[in-house]
Amino acid sequence: MRVLGIETSCDETAVAVVDDGEKVLASLIAGQAALHGRFGGVVPELASRAHLETINPLLDAALAEAQTDLHELDGVAVTVGPGLVGALLVGMATAKAVALALDLPFIGVNHLEGHIYANVLEHGHPDHPYVAFIVSGGHTMLVHVPEEHRYELLGQTLDDAAGEAFDKVARFVGLPFPGGPEIDRLAQRGNPAAIAFPRALAGSGDFDFSLSGLKTAVVRHVRAERDAGREVDLADLAASFQEAVVDVQVDKTMGAAEERKVSTVLLAGGVVANTRLRERMAEAAEANGLALRYPSPELCTDNAAMIACAGFFRLAKGERTSLEVGADAGLPLA
Ligand code: KG4
Ligand code: ZN
Repeated sequence: MRVLGIETSCDETAVAVVDDGEKVLASLIAGQAALHGRFGGVVPELASRAHLETINPLLDAALAEAQTDLHELDGVAVTVGPGLVGALLVGMATAKAVALALDLPFIGVNHLEGHIYANVLEHGHPDHPYVAFIVSGGHTMLVHVPEEHRYELLGQTLDDAAGEAFDKVARFVGLPFPGGPEIDRLAQRGNPAAIAFPRALAGSGDFDFSLSGLKTAVVRHVRAERDAGREVDLADLAASFQEAVVDVQVDKTMGAAEERKVSTVLLAGGVVANTRLRERMAEAAEANGLALRYPSPELCTDNAAMIACAGFFRLAKGERTSLEVGADAGLPLA
């Protein structure tokens, strides 16, 4: 079954063609970092407009790369939420038009489930039950997955998402947008123990996260150093901030796996591209005898191959979404 996947929930326009949820024939991504960079974050109206300009040529290019005629498609999958409504609508209108014109099975995909399926795309199905840690620009959550397509929320951030915190801290110290990869790079030559930043909600006994205090602590530290006439070592700052984020994430993820008595942990979302997070999770999983799965860095951040893959497994079960479906900015996973 050859599925067209479309993803426009935030600031990447992405189109993919995937066979049977596993063979990627094409996966194209047109990012908008340059467009939003000077504003220090994604501007929703600009994102929608850029999606609108990009989606048709990108669809043509993806089909050409996949050497696929529209008539050779067997299904269409598109992100319907969560995300920016105006941005989602562009991908959805395109996907619906293709499905309607060719009378193809149509499936709306939850963006977060898409991130989980980046793992399935690359490594096949994980054994159930498992615990998934989803961490991106908009989400930080731990989910228990007892069986395919069933998600139970264990905990999530009470304020900022981790990716958002990375981006805000990076912006504060003058790094380009998006800041996550910049902090990752800088941190590699910094000392993670240089500055003692707070580990909010560590040992709180639940699976919630809080990042706004850490962000404030970073700002306060930088201001205090500057006021004292000292130069801030950005590599040390990045490494110490990143370590504080990752410490809590590793602890809570391992705690959730233990509480739910699962033997597999799966990581999903853009922040999973983070070198230190991957490293620390791998160490902890090994120490705890857990199987750990995460996608390669390119598949961690937003793409349409993961949407086509997630859509395929629902379509294969006979599931269909009505073409009447609307975009849902706050669509929950669980
Ligand atoms: O999943 P994603 O592409 O989009 C959302 O669904 O939000 O995640 C984007 C987020 C951004 O905040 C970006 O800074 C962060 O993931 N990110 C990283 C890294 N690569 C991307 N954060 C830390 N380290 C990275 N290497
Ligand atoms: Zn995402």
